[in-house]
Amino acid sequence: MFITFEGGEGSGKTTQIQLLKDALEAKGHDVITTREPGGTIEAEKIRELLVQRDGGDWTPTAEAMLFFTARHMHVETKIKPALAAGKIVICDRFTDSTIAYQGYGHGFDLDTLNAIKKVSIGNMEPDKTFILDIDVTEGLTRAGKRMEGDDDGSTEDRFERMKIDFHENLRQGYLTIAKQNPNRCHVIDASATIDDVHLAILSAI
Ligand SMILES: Nc1ncnc2c1ncn2[C@@H]1O[C@H](COP(=O)(O)OP(=O)(O)OP(=O)(O)O)[C@@H](O)[C@H]1O
Ligand SMILES: [Mg+2]
Repeated sequence: MFITFEGGEGSGKTTQIQLLKDALEAKGHDVITTREPGGTIEAEKIRELLVQRDGGDWTPTAEAMLFFTARHMHVETKIKPALAAGKIVICDRFTDSTIAYQGYGHGFDLDTLNAIKKVSIGNMEPDKTFILDIDVTEGLTRAGKRMEGDDDGSTEDRFERMKIDFHENLRQGYLTIAKQNPNRCHVIDASATIDDVHLAILSAI
């Protein structure tokens, strides 16, 4: 099974992925977690170009193709082999992020994005996708709280620095994706406590 987590900054994806991994492992499943952009050596190099503040000033087309280049490598060299070995793969962001951020957030043409998707990863879709939905300001506050900490000195904040409007469009984009893919996508109220969000995810699984 291939499970993805989606949602805006600070919605709780990374937190919930770890809890779901622990819960599935406790039931005896073999689970790997991974993330996008990145997940393989080559794709992590592309991640640096995309998410670092000084990673580059990409045109929308170049940016979309870089995301899907990284995703192609990730799918071919990590996700497909793990699924073939019977593992559950949980991925922090996947294609829906590109549709939501570049498409609904930045207004990049959705048909073009889907064409690039088709060339890059064919029909590869997650079996289940959890869309963690939260008020934009609340999510950004959570993300900001973490970034103010002196934990990892992360400068991966190129997207978080974008305007509130962008994040509102992004949120609505995710909800549209969920409506279009009702069997695959579960919208989860991410404003609840960490434990309650986890329980909602477990019951959907
Ligand atoms: N349900 C929750 N209630 C309150 N705080 C939460 C909740 N879930 C996560 N947090 C806290 O919010 C912050 C962001 O959570 P997390 O890193 O899991 O989000 P994320 O979606 O992975 O963010 P990003 O998109 O930046 O990677 C963390 O400090 C986390 O502990
Ligand atoms: Mg995260």
